[in-house]
Amino acid sequence: MKIILNDKIFEVYLSAAEIKTRINQIGEQITRDFKDKDIVILGVLNGSFIFLADLCRAIDLPLVCSFVKLSSYQGIVSSGEIRSILGLDQDLKGKHVILVEDIVDSGLSMDYLIKTLSDHNPAQIAIATLLFKPGAFRFKYPIDYVGFEIPNKFVVGCGLDYDGLGRNLPDIYQLSTL
Ligand code: IMP
Ligand code: MG
Repeated sequence: MKIILNDKIFEVYLSAAEIKTRINQIGEQITRDFKDKDIVILGVLNGSFIFLADLCRAIDLPLVCSFVKLSSYQGIVSSGEIRSILGLDQDLKGKHVILVEDIVDSGLSMDYLIKTLSDHNPAQIAIATLLFKPGAFRFKYPIDYVGFEIPNKFVVGCGLDYDGLGRNLPDIYQLSTL
């Protein structure tokens, strides 16, 4: 099925059912890996909110759930330069932090988050991302939980947007080549 968002056409790439199944698997894996640990699930806004909502309900452990937002350097949008973390309201000292993202693309956002949050002395920082583009990734750090590895193509849905649109789509869509 195809959809139009603003000036672009997108086609279904991953179905809501496939996504749900995979998120449940990751939830079970995290449940095994983080037993008896003090967990803080830290979602990166805006894109992570849907994945995080499903993921945290698939983890059968007590956990704290919170969000941060990254602010980019104003006026230099294309450089992708990152300036600061907004909204961190949790003490991360000694905590097992699971950073949750919708997608790791170049990896720059996560790199900045890992470096900055390390200064808060957590016991551990793990990464869970719904999507990962290995072809675009420019760093070496491990990504602990990946929903789906995808080709280097623009996607929307399930939290991901194009010009602010498409986050509410239950399936994930790829930019159509037609
Ligand atoms: P990175 O810092 O290059 O890894 O980019 C991460 C951010 O870029 C993600 O959190 C998304 O907000 C955005 N992004 C990267 N690729 C896509 C895409 O294909 N669709 C929508 N947003 C994307
Ligand atoms: Mg994002």
